Amino acid sequence: MKNSCYIAGFSYFVPEGVLTNRDLERFVDTNDEWIVSRTGIRQRHVAGGQTCSDLAYEASRTALQRSGLEPGDITHIITATFTPDAYVPNAACVIMEKLGIRGIPAMDINAACTGFVYGIELARGLCQLSSGSRILLVASEVVTSRINFKDRSTSVLFGDGAGACVLTRESPGGGIPAGYIEDVLLRADGSLGPLLTVKGGGSGYPLVLGETVGDDFFVQMEGREVFKHAVRSMRDVSMDILKKNNITADDIDLFIPHQANIRIIEALAKLMHVKEEKIFVNVHEYGNTSAASVPIALADAWEKGRIRPGQLVLMVAFGGGFTWGATLIRF
Ligand code: UT7
Repeated sequence: MKNSCYIAGFSYFVPEGVLTNRDLERFVDTNDEWIVSRTGIRQRHVAGGQTCSDLAYEASRTALQRSGLEPGDITHIITATFTPDAYVPNAACVIMEKLGIRGIPAMDINAACTGFVYGIELARGLCQLSSGSRILLVASEVVTSRINFKDRSTSVLFGDGAGACVLTRESPGGGIPAGYIEDVLLRADGSLGPLLTVKGGGSGYPLVLGETVGDDFFVQMEGREVFKHAVRSMRDVSMDILKKNNITADDIDLFIPHQANIRIIEALAKLMHVKEEKIFVNVHEYGNTSAASVPIALADAWEKGRIRPGQLVLMVAFGGGFTWGATLIRF
C-alpha cells in the first residue's frame, strides 16, 4: 500500500524582538563583518519572555486556519523541540491547552535541528494507522534560552521561532495548497553526539539546588567539525532520497536546506549540483532556529510564491545527536 500523507497549512511565527549583529557587538567579542562573512546571518529574532508554546501556538493557529481546520478537528499534536517550556508537561500538552483541545495524543520529539523532518515521518506513519488522521506538527524553539551570550562561537548563530503545518491521510482539497509526501529518509549517529550538546539539567548532568548553572547548561559545539559533518550528511541523505526515487537534482524545483550557515548551504548545493535559483535561503533574517528552521523556510517560501502546484520540493536537515534527514514533497 502506498503511504498516503499530505502536508498543508504551512505557517511560521517569529517573536518581535530582533537582535542584530551590531547589537551583539555590544556584549560579545565579535563583529558584523565576521558574522556575515562566516555565516550569512545579519539578525535573529529573540523571544524575550515568550516560551516555546507561545511561539508554537501562534504558528499553529495560522496553520489550522490555512488548512481550513478547527483545533477540534486535530487528531494528534506532535511538537519538535529541544527547548520545551518545561520537561513535564511536554510542550505538545501546553500547546493543546492553549489551542483549547483535549483528549487527543500530544507528544514531543527531540531530534534537535532535524526534529521537523523526523516529525513528518512520524506523522506519515500515524496517517497509515488511521484514515481520519489530521496531525498538527509544530516545531518551536527558544534556542536563546540555552545560549551562553558570553560564548561568541555559538551566541551569534541562533534565533527563536516556530513553524507549523497539518498532515493528513486524505488530500485536503478545496484550493488549499497541499503537498504529497513522496518520501522521507531519516538517519542518526550517536557516536558524534559529543560534538554538539546541551547537557545541563539532563539526568546525566543534574542541577543542584542553590547552585548556579555552568557552561554545559548551554549549547556547546565544535563548530568546524559540525560544519563538515553537516555538509557531508545532508549531501548523502539528499542524494540517497533522489536516487531511491529515480530522480536527480535537476528534477527538484525548490531546495530547502536547514538554515544554519550560508556557507554550509552553498557547499551542499555545489556538491549536489543544485542551481542557485532553486535554493531557498532566509538564514540572514532568522539565524539557526534549530527544529523550526526548515518549517519556517517552507512557510516563508510559500508566502513568497516560491512554491507552485506541480513542483517538487526537497527539504533536508541536520542537527545534534547527530541526526539528519530529507523529505521529498510534490505540490
Ligand atoms: O544546526 C546545526 C548545528 N550548527 C551548525 O551547523 C554550525 C556549524 N559550524 C559553523 O557554522 C562554523 O563552524 C562556525 C560559524 C561556528 C564557525 O566558523 P568557522 O569558519 O568554522 O570559524 P572557526 O571556528 O574556524 O574560527 C575562525 C576564527 C577563530 O579565530 P583564530 O583562531 O583564527 O584566531 C575564532 O576564534 O574566528 C574566531 N571566531 C570569531 N570571531 C569573531 C569564532 N567565533 C567568532 C565570532 N566573532 N563570533
